[in-house]
Amino acid sequence: MLNLICKTALIKSVLLLLIFIGTTPLTGCSKKEEPVIPVTPPVVETKTLKEKAKFPIGAAVTVAHLKETDFANAFKSNYSQLSAEYEMKMKGIWTSLTGYSFDNTDYLVNFAIQNNMKVHGHALLWYSSFPDWFKTAAYDSLNFENNVKTYIQTVVSRYKGKIVSWDVANEIFADDGTLRVESTVYKTFKDPIAFYGRCFQYARNADPDVKLFYNDYDQVLNSAKRNSMKKMVERFKKSSYPIDGIGDQFHTTIWTSKTTVSSGLTDIATTGLLVHISELDIRVNQNKSDSYVFTDAEMIKQSDMYKSIVESFESLPQAQKFAITTWGITDKYTWLTGWWHPKEYPLLFTSNYTKKKAYDGFLSGLK
Ligand code: XIL
Repeated sequence: MLNLICKTALIKSVLLLLIFIGTTPLTGCSKKEEPVIPVTPPVVETKTLKEKAKFPIGAAVTVAHLKETDFANAFKSNYSQLSAEYEMKMKGIWTSLTGYSFDNTDYLVNFAIQNNMKVHGHALLWYSSFPDWFKTAAYDSLNFENNVKTYIQTVVSRYKGKIVSWDVANEIFADDGTLRVESTVYKTFKDPIAFYGRCFQYARNADPDVKLFYNDYDQVLNSAKRNSMKKMVERFKKSSYPIDGIGDQFHTTIWTSKTTVSSGLTDIATTGLLVHISELDIRVNQNKSDSYVFTDAEMIKQSDMYKSIVESFESLPQAQKFAITTWGITDKYTWLTGWWHPKEYPLLFTSNYTKKKAYDGFLSGLK
């Protein structure tokens, strides 16, 4: 019996010793400790663009496209703001001096409201969208301005409280920074900038809360144009004409200089106004080649460019980040297939509404 007790005690002691050895660090022991390499799991971004962004993510759409279920679903799931690709321009609304067609614009605005989206109005005055009947009438400056004033009041007040912002004037400067001579405004007014200033005021009077933008392309890349815009803003401020923001269209490319984009955006922000990347798309088919193939390598370049543009925008002061809007959502429908080349793939979704690498690039550029 005693023997058994002794044996049990001995086994217990050995077991305790083994446990002790097993749990004691092997410091000073010849066996080397395995280095512990922390494994960082890859960041899997589960949020959509609109969920991640701290500012609105917009897209240009049309009534016809919103009536397509796939299009509408991709738009609703990923975007939080709507721009009209053309239906809110003068030509789309102003049918005769006293005639207005609001069916399409009402549809767009109601779609946005029903889906909890904001609406950016594009655009009240664009040289390319004055209706033919208006141009043919060849009004003198007084009648021209009175009619345009009525147009602005009618349209802006109709959507008061429903549209958050308007591009009051679009593309008034030529590429050398002078005023665009082909504009009917240029041909009618001795001082076109003052006319535009009064138009901003008419819009403000019609909706005191709406944000008012000047919109143009390549302001970031073209310092002549940017400087003219900045002078106009200075003049508006001195003359107390209202202006809240600058939109740069950003119809850009994968071969555009990222540093120029970044410094140009920073320079626009020195106006102190809101900044809107208002019509973003990124072309890939540099040589307009019929045999162009959108390879993986090209997709990655496009994705990097989206990321870099979004990062540059993110580096602006938070209060000045108005929104980033892409000019469409799917490569199935892009104005570039007509205007640039049929083989173009500038947007965030494929023709089948799958997310492109470009989408991931945009998403990873967001803070
Ligand atoms: C384009 C639309 O995408 C086309 O469908 C339309 O026919 C012409 O206008 N700058 C602008 C936009 O401010 O309004 C233009 O949109 C593209 C260039």
